[in-house]
Amino acid sequence: MIQIAVLGFGTVGSGVVELIDKNQDVIRSRFPEGIHVKYILDIREFPDSPYADRIVHDMKVILEDPEIAIVCETMGGKEPAYSFSRAALEKGKSVCTSNKELVAAYGPALIQTAADHNCSYMFEASVGGGIPVIRPLLSALTQEKITSILGILNGTTNYIMTRMENEGMSFEDVLKIAQEKGYAERNPEADVEGHDACRKIAILSSLVTGKTVRYEDIPCEGISKITTEDMKYARAMHMAVRLLGMSRQTENGAVYVRTAPFLVPEEHPLHNVSGVFNAVFVHGNMVDNLMFYGRGAGKLPTASAVTADVLECARNIGRHVPVKWSDEVLQLSDPKSESRQFFVRVDAAEKDLALSLFKAAQEVRAEGLEGEFAFVTEEQTEAEFERKAASLSTLKNRIRLLDLEK
Ligand SMILES: NC(=O)c1ccc[n+]([C@@H]2O[C@H](COP(=O)([O-])OP(=O)(O)OC[C@H]3O[C@@H](n4cnc5c(N)ncnc54)[C@H](OP(=O)(O)O)[C@@H]3O)[C@@H](O)[C@H]2O)c1
Repeated sequence: MIQIAVLGFGTVGSGVVELIDKNQDVIRSRFPEGIHVKYILDIREFPDSPYADRIVHDMKVILEDPEIAIVCETMGGKEPAYSFSRAALEKGKSVCTSNKELVAAYGPALIQTAADHNCSYMFEASVGGGIPVIRPLLSALTQEKITSILGILNGTTNYIMTRMENEGMSFEDVLKIAQEKGYAERNPEADVEGHDACRKIAILSSLVTGKTVRYEDIPCEGISKITTEDMKYARAMHMAVRLLGMSRQTENGAVYVRTAPFLVPEEHPLHNVSGVFNAVFVHGNMVDNLMFYGRGAGKLPTASAVTADVLECARNIGRHVPVKWSDEVLQLSDPKSESRQFFVRVDAAEKDLALSLFKAAQEVRAEGLEGEFAFVTEEQTEAEFERKAASLSTLKNRIRLLDLEK
């Protein structure tokens, strides 16, 4: 029997313990030795839990028990998650985590520590919750040159976008409902301003390039400026607004990474990803397009991804499962040199000026929206667009269009 410890008995941690219990027969049918949760580390006591006798409060108990081969870090945050993970790896105990904040900040260092101590650092659940996307990228797609990743990587913002789109509700009203339902945190900034999606696209970009894509280097915009009017125009254009994490490698080696709301045409598979669901759309130079779709969060889906890592580590006790992700920082291409079309809204009074700046502008009309001029620009660089848009004094919003060809 492989003995493991779970750090943090919250949503994900309690899911891991429950899953290993409920699916023990399934696990044993594929891994006959079985997996047993020996310790659960948390700050609190859980007197009513069936696992109350496994709760410990001192990490030393776990570190100093030679029976513990694998540790699941489901506490979240940087500290003490980083120190605990590093200490476990230094003792030769593999670590499986759902903590994207930690992976985005310290991924390569922790992978190296694992390599130095013949154990593994795994983080499938840190991107896309229950969706297996990291393992396919690292194993089933190793023969591919991955040229593009587009991800709906945050369920909270996708839920907000979908309800605004379907029910004509304002951003503020849907956010309130999302908070009441527990989909959004009381402080929703990390989700709605795009930081969470940005960390996830940084992790995926790092795995695809093998170098470190720092999330601090990625231009990041959230959804808080998207209005019900934008949604009406989107519908008129047969498009949907989606917060995307985007990572693209061009033929000349330029790498563009960005997190922002995009208008997604109905022909694109990401257009129909709605509610709390997540999806990652990958293009490989040989396999063509792939899409991974599922629940990007939640107790049991996320626990499923953590447990998949536990089983992988259990099959490789005493060995390091390599992950190609060096600490060399990848210089991203200048985001202002990327080109695309933009959707723009200004006051009707600025129509002539807008048309003189954007000569091939195509007007967009939506029912019930008067007094403004909305249009889609010709393809141009971000720099060119910004220069022209600076002359528009009544700019209400601008949203990038997703190009089906890129
Ligand atoms: N929830 C999801 O659906 C989901 C999906 C994907 C990834 N994740 C990631 O998974 C991680 C965990 O998320 P979660 O939603 O499960 O969080 P959570 O419900 O807040 O659980 C964290 C648990 O860890 C405990 N804890 C915090 N600091 C500790 C310490 N120093 N020592 C021992 N225990 C400590 C917390 O105790 P207190 O409650 O007393 O603070 C809590 O019980 C986060 O990184 C999150 O981003 C979550």
